[in-house]
Amino acid sequence: MQAVFITGASSGIGAELARHYARQGATLGLVARRAEVLDELRNSLPDAEKHQVYALDVTDHAALTRAAQDFISRTGGVQIVIANAGISRGTLTEHSEDLAVFEQVIATNLTATAVTFAPFIASMRASGQPCRLVGIGSVAGIRGLPGAEAYSASKAAVISYCESLRLELRASCIRVVTICPGYIDTPMTRVNTYAMPFLMPVEKFAVRAIGAIRNGDSYRIIPWQMGWVAKLLRLLPNWAFDLAFSRAPRKQRE
Ligand SMILES: NC(=O)c1ccc[n+]([C@@H]2O[C@H](COP(=O)([O-])OP(=O)(O)OC[C@H]3O[C@@H](n4cnc5c(N)ncnc54)[C@H](OP(=O)(O)O)[C@@H]3O)[C@@H](O)[C@H]2O)c1
Repeated sequence: MQAVFITGASSGIGAELARHYARQGATLGLVARRAEVLDELRNSLPDAEKHQVYALDVTDHAALTRAAQDFISRTGGVQIVIANAGISRGTLTEHSEDLAVFEQVIATNLTATAVTFAPFIASMRASGQPCRLVGIGSVAGIRGLPGAEAYSASKAAVISYCESLRLELRASCIRVVTICPGYIDTPMTRVNTYAMPFLMPVEKFAVRAIGAIRNGDSYRIIPWQMGWVAKLLRLLPNWAFDLAFSRAPRKQRE
């Protein structure tokens, strides 16, 4: 039976992936800061007692590594790790007070992705069984979006980081899967006051993401319509991109 470790499991995409994997009979390691929300989620899942809750901050590297090691020893081997914990905050470089937020976004979205994966690689390699490390990028990482200087940078870095890791692990039994959500209906996007093209219900997103993880897809944008938008964005010369996006709606600063 599969063991799946998910960060950012208390809400949105992480919680929905947890529900889907639990229905498939997987044993889950659930990570987020809000213990009571994680407990509530675990108690709502089939075979609640077999799932582990780790209430911690993913920027606490020692705590995250201890949780990963505990989950490996309890399950005897983990097949899927999803580094999904993330925050989205508006940041502007000209405001020096945004620097702390900038660092927090990078620590949570990028550095914690590597810290999440690291403890699993040796035992996954040793198992020789098909395993997956899943990074959550974003369409916001394809090109820099105005007002999202930290968020766009963090997600562009997640995409490149996962690509490097994929090449590094290519000869092993571990596939690195990068998933870039477009707009998915979760608490993260519910605060947005602007129009969100191709907004997708989280249940639908989870089904597609689980399919991509099962197939071991190297890179997948969900929904597919956003995949075409992303392809177009990559092709746009800077002058056209600047013209189209300089007035794009901004994420609120804190
Ligand atoms: N929704 C979208 O449209 C969209 C689009 C592109 C990319 N994404 C990415 O998808 C991922 C999930 O987003 P979502 O939409 O599901 O957002 P969400 O509903 O806000 O969930 C974010 C999750 O991350 C956890 N988290 C945040 N900071 C953490 C920290 N320091 N330590 C531990 N856990 C932390 C939160 O739990 P606690 O608060 O309990 O810690 C929560 O479970 C993120 O990486 C996001 O950037 C989402």
